[in-house]
Amino acid sequence: MASHGDNVAVTIGLAHGFVKQRGYDAAMRVAGRTLELRGETEAAQDALLFSDEELQVKASVIVVAATETAVERAVREGKFLTHAALYSHPDMAVEKTFFLETFGCQMNVHDSEKVIGTLQQQGYSQVDTEEAADLILYNTCSIRDKAEQKVFNRLNDTKKLLKQGKRFGVLGCVAQQEGEAIFERAPYVSLVSGSASYRKLPEMLARLEAGERRIAGLDDRQTDETFETEFTARSNPYRGYITIIEGCDKFCAYCVVPYTRGKERSRTSTSVLAEARRMAESGYSEVQLLGQNVNSYRDPEGKRSFAELLAAVAEIPGIRRVRFTTSHPRDFTQDIVEAIDSVPALCNHVHLPVQSGSTTTLKRMQREYTREQYLERIGWIKGSRRPISVTTDIIVGFPGETVAEFEETLSLLESVQYDAVFAFKYSPRPNTPALVMIDAIPDDEKGKRLQVLLDRQREWQRANYTKRIGQVVEVAVEGHNTQRGQVNGRTSENITLNFVPSGPILPAPGSFALVEVTQSFPNSLVGRAV
Ligand code: 5AD
Ligand code: SF4
Repeated sequence: MASHGDNVAVTIGLAHGFVKQRGYDAAMRVAGRTLELRGETEAAQDALLFSDEELQVKASVIVVAATETAVERAVREGKFLTHAALYSHPDMAVEKTFFLETFGCQMNVHDSEKVIGTLQQQGYSQVDTEEAADLILYNTCSIRDKAEQKVFNRLNDTKKLLKQGKRFGVLGCVAQQEGEAIFERAPYVSLVSGSASYRKLPEMLARLEAGERRIAGLDDRQTDETFETEFTARSNPYRGYITIIEGCDKFCAYCVVPYTRGKERSRTSTSVLAEARRMAESGYSEVQLLGQNVNSYRDPEGKRSFAELLAAVAEIPGIRRVRFTTSHPRDFTQDIVEAIDSVPALCNHVHLPVQSGSTTTLKRMQREYTREQYLERIGWIKGSRRPISVTTDIIVGFPGETVAEFEETLSLLESVQYDAVFAFKYSPRPNTPALVMIDAIPDDEKGKRLQVLLDRQREWQRANYTKRIGQVVEVAVEGHNTQRGQVNGRTSENITLNFVPSGPILPAPGSFALVEVTQSFPNSLVGRAV
């Protein structure tokens, strides 16, 4: 029987590509000499002829490139170590590297943190370039066509690296949306996985390492599972995301998310709070609760409402700031505002996407609220005891949007006075009901409307930010701009505020400073520490 000592018999028969090469290199290191990689069946047959004693004597290392049956037989007969043994043998540690690029929203950024943690747990190390990686992953976004094209352009740029034995994987929304069609469009891709299948990543990675060429994790939207892992590799040591709800059941007419991220499913508040506590204990002071519609949160244990969960996270010792995004107007309830009013650690900011200021457009968009109902919610927010900043998302040029309807959006923006607006030209998306709606607005008209909207908003925002001059606010320090002698940070409203420190020692990232606002721009503030 092959031993773990000096005489190691190794099978890398089922490994292909980078794992095979690395396994072979590692075997050579242990053997201290060049080994001949022989034909698969021949090598297996040969090896199977060795008796246990012969193995001990003859094989300082035997590298067998065997067929699956031969390896199975060898393992059954106890002649060889399995792949798992190969990797766990200290001398045979195979360094596996990956590169991961993320496109899209905060949900994707946080999913990537979980994927990175999972890969590290599986023995992979992260590298900064595609060239240095064995496995190249793209976590993709398909919310608009432009975002979707990015991944195919990137794959086209990097496919030449395939010759070096690298493997490619497409994760996220484009993966889920396009599914196995990606294997046809980009045949060099070996792994395609939507976010609802990430919990199966360890298994999919093992199959990839064993040489499988087309692995698909494409759970349909019926899954009840959330992706929870204790191996999240958070990139910022002070500010971190926590997913509280995944998927979306709203089916707005333009939106691909319900098809790419599956049905709405919440985590238990017990597990959310445990994660928040662990983060606080390891020094996190700011937590952002994430979900496609956070306020549609339903505790599977029935212990807490969304507003109660917000308050409970904010009351954890060490947590100074709690944010949440994104809220849906239909599920936005008054108790959320009451929670912000009574719990100081809840930030004074609500992101409440309206998409359009016209009730008729909203109806075509299947948003299930009217302009008036939206404004009623804004009324609750503006009626709070402390000022709460509001931001929104807008889509211009939705099918059938008339000039008059577009102007209603402008008038809504003027009356709400948002601190930030994220506006997009409507982009037709696969599977969505809006895809078949007639009367599409020409692209240059969408462009014009977008520009008008952004120009107006810029002026309203400029006026809003100017009103903040003279206020003293708390700023979470994020970094320094040594050239300008400035400290960079963010207010509770999530506004960027750069300030001059009060003394020669710059406050450390992760700390908090009181700052008087001295100057304003349309998207940021400037101040000095008090
Ligand atoms: N076209 C343009 N913008 C879209 N969004 C979602 N789907 C589309 C689409 N098909 C915008 C919405 C949403 C934000 C995340 O992206 O404004 O709130
Ligand atoms: Fe898309 Fe609407 Fe769901 Fe938001 S609420 S993710 S816009 S379907």
